[in-house]
Amino acid sequence: MTQRLRVGVLAGGRSAEHDVSLQSAEAVLDALPKDAYEAIPIIIDREGRWPVDLRRDLVDVVFPVLHGPFGEDGVVQGHLETLGIPYVGCGVLASAVAMDKVAMRRAFLAEGIPVTPHVWFTRHEWRTATDPESLVKSLDWPMFVKPANMGSSIGISRVTSMEELRTAVELAFGYDRVVLVEQGVDARELICGVLGDYDTPQASVPGEINVIGDWNDYESKYVNTATTVTIPAVLPDRVVEDVRELALRAYRAIGGYGLSRADFLYERDTGRLYLLEINTMPGFTARSVYAGAWAASGVAYPDLLRRLIDLALERGAR
Ligand SMILES: Nc1ncnc2c1ncn2[C@@H]1O[C@H](COP(=O)(O)OP(=O)(O)O)[C@@H](O)[C@H]1O
Ligand SMILES: [Mg+2]
Repeated sequence: MTQRLRVGVLAGGRSAEHDVSLQSAEAVLDALPKDAYEAIPIIIDREGRWPVDLRRDLVDVVFPVLHGPFGEDGVVQGHLETLGIPYVGCGVLASAVAMDKVAMRRAFLAEGIPVTPHVWFTRHEWRTATDPESLVKSLDWPMFVKPANMGSSIGISRVTSMEELRTAVELAFGYDRVVLVEQGVDARELICGVLGDYDTPQASVPGEINVIGDWNDYESKYVNTATTVTIPAVLPDRVVEDVRELALRAYRAIGGYGLSRADFLYERDTGRLYLLEINTMPGFTARSVYAGAWAASGVAYPDLLRRLIDLALERGAR
């Protein structure tokens, strides 16, 4: 038997999305073709302790299936860079930019990619403002209040009054010193998968998250998981094309590599598209919307894994 490629599947970690990460990792471990790959699980515990001191001679490539801070934000990617170990997915800068909702919006705006109207402020600015209300005066209700650096809807609130806003801002400051307040839009939620290298990435068919209730909160993402997805999303051709083009432009704007999932708001009244965010390590089980969108685009889950590992090795070789 020829030498199999040793793939370190890195999962768990200090993030609130620890359990989600373990599910994604299990799916990757299950689906990695056994003839070509030797999968080695590397589970970081909730305190951030690694089970092993990773070294170049222990694995050929690392597949980080970590979500949120300390995993999806460039920190682990930087660690792997210093160790000289090739890894799947976006590099340090793209991961960091995509984890910060303010930095991400700046990158999108600079490239003319539409985002919802928003304002942001620091904890210091909020606490010392003589009239905090004036900070959000350019926006209408409802508004979404978000910590700049999080994921999985944690720390996010939908608010419809100044009183709710104040409470929501304090909650968000529990997660980050920077808070983003966005204009809420009544919209359908669409996603588009991106896969590939820096220069010739491809976009999947779009999918739709059929959100129940006002918005896709933590509860509906992970607790009452009644949310369904429609792949491909049922959309006019023009919207399909716009979604795919914007997903590729967003990937380019952050300097994406390997994979990402672009999330959109598709406004019901106006038909406008807004880029909501880009996730550099989206939920990654075989049943995830990212994998589903690629399956519907002709790339089955095990092939997706192969492609991502090949891309990691190509970048590692440069
Ligand atoms: N401006 C907005 N208008 C309408 N809904 C929003 C807006 N921003 C966020 N949401 C709702 O909140 C959810 C989570 O927001 P998002 O920015 O994607 O945060 P996370 O990174 O935690 O997923 C979205 O999926 C959507 O349901
Ligand atoms: Mg989201």
